[in-house]
Amino acid sequence: MDPIRQLGWRYAVKKFDPDRKLTAEQLETILESVRLSASAFGLQPYRLVVVDEVQVRESLVEHSMNQDKVLHSSHLLVFAIRLFVDDTDIENHLRLISETRNTPRGNLAGLEQILHQFIGAMSQESYRNWAARQAYLALGNLLTVCALLQVDACPMEGFVPAAYDRILQLDQLGLTATVIATLGFRAQDDPYARQQKVRMPLTEFIIRV
Ligand SMILES: Cc1cc2nc3c(=O)[nH]c(=O)nc-3n(C[C@H](O)[C@H](O)[C@H](O)COP(=O)(O)O)c2cc1C
Repeated sequence: MDPIRQLGWRYAVKKFDPDRKLTAEQLETILESVRLSASAFGLQPYRLVVVDEVQVRESLVEHSMNQDKVLHSSHLLVFAIRLFVDDTDIENHLRLISETRNTPRGNLAGLEQILHQFIGAMSQESYRNWAARQAYLALGNLLTVCALLQVDACPMEGFVPAAYDRILQLDQLGLTATVIATLGFRAQDDPYARQQKVRMPLTEFIIRV
């Protein structure tokens, strides 16, 4: 498989074929690619919400700049960052490292101190920006893996996070919607499928020092 060819094949789909759905295996691979994404300290300060309910998806269209791919795509995924990371989250993370790697919890005291300092030094705004960056990195992974699987996708910021939080009750889970992705298969008549990719030339884009 040629990754550059696949990345050239992908584009931000404007119109999905409402009748074509991902297989369970394709979906699992894509979800797993998000879970395996790198994050600072491995803290994964976000969750991936899979929105299945058709009625819920219908109600989200008006809060998505009327982009009806939120409804007509095969799957709607919401990257939702944790509202904050607290001492319990840090402890849970350290315990997970300890259990997964069979390392005594006491050996992680140095990391524990670094994590408390790192998280504690951030304002609420800095924390949200930092957490969103982790989520966007995972979104990039998702887009690449979709392209490799020849599954179509559209990353989307054109939605109202507060409305998504309310409708999906994300605030009750200590989460807030950050960016979304719709997955599926391009409609035959999506005009964007035939448009040239617009990217600056490599000579302008790459700076060699
Ligand atoms: C963070 C982000 C948000 C985006 N939001 C939307 C969106 O709400 N609706 C949409 O149709 N496309 C959206 N796009 C798609 C971009 O317009 C598209 O990726 C860009 O024009 C490059 O084209 P290509 O991805 O088709 O190569 C978004 C892309 C990114 C990365």
